[in-house]
Amino acid sequence: MGLVQRLLTPSTWVIGVLALGLGVAFYQGISQPTRKTIVDVAVPTLSAAALGGQALFAQNCAACHGMNGSGSDKGPPLIHDIYNPGHHSDISFHRAAQYGVQQHHWSFGNMPPQPQVTEKQVDEIVLYIRELQVANDIRYRPHRM
Ligand code: HEC
Repeated sequence: MGLVQRLLTPSTWVIGVLALGLGVAFYQGISQPTRKTIVDVAVPTLSAAALGGQALFAQNCAACHGMNGSGSDKGPPLIHDIYNPGHHSDISFHRAAQYGVQQHHWSFGNMPPQPQVTEKQVDEIVLYIRELQVANDIRYRPHRM
């Protein structure tokens, strides 16, 4: 049987369709947004700098990210393994505040830019978020994808 005939046999088609189906199922599985969650956040004794960050976060971020970054119906928890420093570095906080964020991990929609927050203020917010993360056992894990 020549190559062309072999490609046209029904069994080749069945296998092809099955493989395609598996591929689509797998792709949908990995591209599914993370389900919306609100987490319990333990608040440790914060450093002075992180206390400043806490106030700034409450004013500028908590409406969506929840008190202490626990999440809300408008935005994801930042005290979540997705935001460990190996996956979201401090720079990603600066970028988020400056440019906003296109929806990609969750299904809340986009995050609008927060131009009212200065770079120095974002530094304080990051300090605060990292202290909360450590207290809630979210630690650096290298990002693999
Ligand atoms: C109007 C709602 C809203 C406000 C206000 C808001 N965020 Fe967000 N933020 C979101 C949403 C929604 C996402 C998730 C986007 C996704 O991944 O689907 C997000 C994602 C992020 C991320 C992850 C960025 C990335 O690269 O994936 C960081 C960091 C972040 N926000 C920090 C902040 C900080 C800091 C503030 C306050 C200065 C803030 N956000 C204020 C809604 C908000």
